[in-house]
Amino acid sequence: MGEREAWERIRKSSAERFGEDSVFGEGRPGARLAIIGEAPGKQEVEQGRPFVGRAGKLLDELLEEAGIDRSEVYVTNVVKVRPTKEAGGRTQNRPPRAGEIREGIEVLEEELEAIGPKVLVLLGTTPAKALIDRSFTMRAGRGSILRSKLLGLPALATYHPAYLLRLRGAGSEDYARMREQVVEDLGAAWDYARRDG
Ligand code: URA
Repeated sequence: MGEREAWERIRKSSAERFGEDSVFGEGRPGARLAIIGEAPGKQEVEQGRPFVGRAGKLLDELLEEAGIDRSEVYVTNVVKVRPTKEAGGRTQNRPPRAGEIREGIEVLEEELEAIGPKVLVLLGTTPAKALIDRSFTMRAGRGSILRSKLLGLPALATYHPAYLLRLRGAGSEDYARMREQVVEDLGAAWDYARRDG
């Protein structure tokens, strides 16, 4: 079975397991870099694609600034179903639960086996804690190539674009510097991904 067929089979079984509202990864089998977020939001569910809402638009900008074409990388999430809660009469996002993350990793592992990336970029602490170590902190671990638990693949964690959006919204003076760090981290991961071997 070819990479594309293997990936299709996993995509179908993920939809059967998690439901038609679940959002699978997208990109080319053989992509050398895989970007992994936390879970889809409302827009992602509506469009059935990862990172297409506000955080996704910012991710596209950051990739472009790092000299990376989104079509060259694989983009996915640890959790395939939007985690929601009802609050104030509205459906809102909530952090994924441990069991949701565990189930997500089972599928993610098969998904990435079919894609075959050389390195992972983990966006935010949820994927970093789940895939590197529970004790991971951005302060200590951001920007370094670390060994992940996912197929033993090297992984680099950086700030989630949604976090950058919150900083920007709050008028934080840290926004510009942290945004620049994400662009640098993406560039470093891309260089690593394209090394020989
Ligand atoms: N945030 C994520 O972590 N993943 C998405 O797909 C969108 C927003």
